Amino acid sequence: MVDLRAAIRTIPDYPKPGILFRDITTLLSDPRAFRAAIDQLVAPHSNSQIRHVVGVEARGFILGGALAHQLSAGFIPIRKKGKLPGETVSVTYELEYGQDEMELHRDAVLPGERVLLTDDLIATGGTAVGAVELLRGLGAEIVAACFLVDLPDLGGARKLRELGVEVHALCEFE
Ligand code: PRP
Ligand code: ADE
Repeated sequence: MVDLRAAIRTIPDYPKPGILFRDITTLLSDPRAFRAAIDQLVAPHSNSQIRHVVGVEARGFILGGALAHQLSAGFIPIRKKGKLPGETVSVTYELEYGQDEMELHRDAVLPGERVLLTDDLIATGGTAVGAVELLRGLGAEIVAACFLVDLPDLGGARKLRELGVEVHALCEFE
């Protein structure tokens, strides 16, 4: 059994003093850990009839592509403002300090389509809650949201569950 938590490196004081940055690049570069993480994230959904995996820029793209392949699903990106070429819907979302905006192609999902949302990590939940708003705004059915890492003290997973989203995370850090 691969210890996924141990495969994630912690870098203190990045990007600013006092933050313990949970760096997943060490997990991604470890062949056994990356395989195990993808296997564990898809396991609850092998019979969920997921049509699309939706990944949030940037680290959610890495997991999302692998998950989509494994589930024989399509992949849909949610990108930071101004990066998607087609007609988009957008949402302003809360960051730890300030706000940002992200976008989804308006024609990416049809009403009732079953999607799996993914990102590397959930902290305050601002990003994931914004993604849920975008997807539900287009009528998508969010089967679940899955992450490698949850930082439970920051409350993001709780916020998602309060919105009625099933949440899976492979490990937690304080
Ligand atoms: C990180 C992470 C999540 C988000 C989680 O992305 O990959 O998307 O923060 O934080 P939250 O739950 O408080 O919203 P970041 O905004 O640093 O962007 P990046 O992936 O482009 O580096
Ligand atoms: N995104 C938000 N908080 C983070 C943290 N502590 N480590 C890595 N990515 C993050």
